[in-house]
Amino acid sequence: MAAIRLAPEESSDLVQHQQQQPPQPQQHGGREVASDDERSVAADSWSIKSEYGSTLDDDQRHADAAEALSSAANFRAASDYSSDKDDSDNEAMASMLGLQSYWDAAYADELANFREHGHTGEIWFGADVMDVVASWTKSLCIEISQDHIPNHVDETKPGPTEQDDKYLSWSVLDIGTGNGLLLQELAKYRFSDLTGTDYSEGAIDLARSLADRDGLSNIKFLVDDVLETKLERKFQLVMDKGTLDAIGLHPDGTVKRIMYWDSVAKLVASGGLLVITSCNSTKDELVQEVENFNQRWIEMTEDPNTPKDQETCTEPPFQYLNHVRTYPTFMFGGSVGSRVATVAFLRN
Ligand SMILES: C[S@@+](CC[C@H](N)C(=O)[O-])C[C@H]1O[C@@H](n2cnc3c(N)ncnc32)[C@H](O)[C@@H]1O
Repeated sequence: MAAIRLAPEESSDLVQHQQQQPPQPQQHGGREVASDDERSVAADSWSIKSEYGSTLDDDQRHADAAEALSSAANFRAASDYSSDKDDSDNEAMASMLGLQSYWDAAYADELANFREHGHTGEIWFGADVMDVVASWTKSLCIEISQDHIPNHVDETKPGPTEQDDKYLSWSVLDIGTGNGLLLQELAKYRFSDLTGTDYSEGAIDLARSLADRDGLSNIKFLVDDVLETKLERKFQLVMDKGTLDAIGLHPDGTVKRIMYWDSVAKLVASGGLLVITSCNSTKDELVQEVENFNQRWIEMTEDPNTPKDQETCTEPPFQYLNHVRTYPTFMFGGSVGSRVATVAFLRN
């Protein structure tokens, strides 16, 4: 499948891709590559796990995942070339990624691989994207803590200076943290109040084991379902890398996404940030989803039958702030887009 790699460029209104896709993992230390290669890297990462794999069922699961992931790495147009059976297999695989049972099995496997082989596991969207997300977010936090809300904050700045340090005390929550490596990356950028949650206990065990191994035992990890969160605290920075994607792949994904926004609005402190990284939604789709949520919120607050508490204010909860413009873009079938979107929203 010919996908042409273009240099990173400003492409705010360009098509990213148009189908619901399983999010894409990459081995730790892997590099982001053009689409055909990336598909095989994604597939390799699963087959590497299969080499360690314990049971036939695991091997089959990984083979299925590799197939779904390889299709996920294409734009929708690629499905014109695949059979109806491939499509329905991939759809079935995609909806598995919306189920907790899928993640429990995946992390049980990853935990076993970590204990037996010291294997770190998957980095969803690859190490390069994780690095961009962390450094870009840090720049954004610096701008905000200097009371300057930016329009364009793409340049990775050198390490923080003393006057930038206000942002370092920001409380950070990573929802659906998986192996917790994004929090480790943020720790490298000197964030220190770090919490990761995931509904899969195996993910939390893995994240804690990796953080302990890497001398970052100060990162807190908790089992928590973001859709029914038990957290009462609010955070100044909430990160989501691939979690909304996974939630949207649930068979009841539309309803679950609505629940997601209700919940996340309670977790982000006023004046704080929500940073979402997605391979299933474009920047424009995420912005539209937030506008829909804001609209629902306003209608709810204007409804005289809605009980009002301190939390309920008539201002829309989120406003679009910025997005990463530096991801590599691809051209396919006359459309140009990038594989991943990272978008920041400010909590009013
Ligand atoms: C694609 S993985 C991304 C993991 C991690 N954020 C990363 O970037 O490596 C999606 C993660 O979301 C978690 N997840 C899915 N639905 C969730 C929910 N309702 N509450 C908490 N975690 C959830 C899964 O267990 C999984 O770890």
